[in-house]
Amino acid sequence: MTMDRYVITGKQRLEGRVRTSGAKNAALPLIAAAILAEGKIVLQGVPLLTDIVYMTEVLRKLGCQTEFEDNNLIIDSTTLHESTIDEELMRKMRASNLILGPMIARNGRVKISRPGGCAIGTRPMDQHIKGLKELGVTIHEKHGYIEAIAEKLRGNEVYLDIPSVGATENIMMAAVLAQGTTTVRNAAREPEIVDLQNLLNKMGAKVRGAGTHVIKIEGVKELRGTEHSVIPDRIEAGTHLIAAVMTGGDITVENVIPEHISPVIAKLRQGGAEVIPNSDSVRVKHKGRFKALDIKTLAYPGFPTDMQPQFMALLAIAEGTSIITETIFENRFQHVAELTRMGAKITIEGRAAVICGVPKLEGAFVEATDLRAGAALFLSALAAEEGTVLEKVDHIDRGYENLEEKYRALGAKLQRVVKQP
Ligand code: UD1
Repeated sequence: MTMDRYVITGKQRLEGRVRTSGAKNAALPLIAAAILAEGKIVLQGVPLLTDIVYMTEVLRKLGCQTEFEDNNLIIDSTTLHESTIDEELMRKMRASNLILGPMIARNGRVKISRPGGCAIGTRPMDQHIKGLKELGVTIHEKHGYIEAIAEKLRGNEVYLDIPSVGATENIMMAAVLAQGTTTVRNAAREPEIVDLQNLLNKMGAKVRGAGTHVIKIEGVKELRGTEHSVIPDRIEAGTHLIAAVMTGGDITVENVIPEHISPVIAKLRQGGAEVIPNSDSVRVKHKGRFKALDIKTLAYPGFPTDMQPQFMALLAIAEGTSIITETIFENRFQHVAELTRMGAKITIEGRAAVICGVPKLEGAFVEATDLRAGAALFLSALAAEEGTVLEKVDHIDRGYENLEEKYRALGAKLQRVVKQP
């Protein structure tokens, strides 16, 4: 696959206002949940990203109808007639495994190609499978496929060994149409799970407890169509805040729920940035050098692993030595080699990275290896002394809507070079 590149002129001070798009990681399970409805689901504020397009392709493959009108996505699942998703489509996007729960509830049967490992780790599905089995689902795994069949779903107690976001969502989406009550313990607490609960309840489900470690789902007979607005993307918002600090700028990020990014705000303040939260915006100003600090990634409300690479880019130019410990994914330091090409001094010791801050980064030829690694390099290029060529920016397109337009408006100088096939 040929991919585009960015040519970025460094050292521009960024200032102004930027509006965060709807959250990709909230929208993906919401789209999957539309499979459950006996009517139309209208999702507002859906970001136009490649991952979202792949997810709608998955639904269309199952026989649903989907239509985008600007950032509104209309999904009609009444025409659903397929139950298999082939390898080609599954490989494009891991999160398509989120159809397991809603498909089994709606259709009684589903077969998906097992998602492979990805750049940041092996990413097993044992907790998804364990939870669905507790609800009465029979699962066959062979030839790289996962086939799930259930004549009837029964509510049950489910204990997750790890508070997995995807497993919590899949189990919720299966349990809403089960007979009886399901209790998920050690559930993930991410804001995206609260958003899913809100949509499901508007559809007529009886879910409570999302945002805590115990979620209770009382099964209902059927779910109806409704409208829902996707929460703002907390990872996108956090990325803009770091851009302000790395360029010595002053940025107000609009459409953000400050509580959702409280670990990022806390760490920015600890390093010396001025952060001014409002009801639905956050302003960040910074001058001089950021101060080194330590970070450990954890499940929400801990520091998000999806912000780890971007924060490492900032710590690369901080004053002093920082340690980042990655506890969620085993292989999420791929950006280190590329940051080193830009002059960063980082060593990896198992699950920790030791970052000796340097006064400035240099422009270089670098490559985005995955979505958030790409974001880290994008930020580094904005702050670097000279120009940078950032290859494979299609990875960044998976998670950031209108990135070029947004950053040009803030004063960045960048150009996208579209590669000819
Ligand atoms: C979601 C996010 C992703 C984010 C991650 C962690 C979406 C679409 N993606 O991914 O951007 O980086 O949360 O915040 O929302 N695990 C198991 N067994 C399982 C499931 C997970 O061992 O059955 C492990 C994973 O390998 C990982 C950890 O649990 O180490 C967390 O994964 P999980 O919360 O499931 O992440 P995702 O839902 O895949």
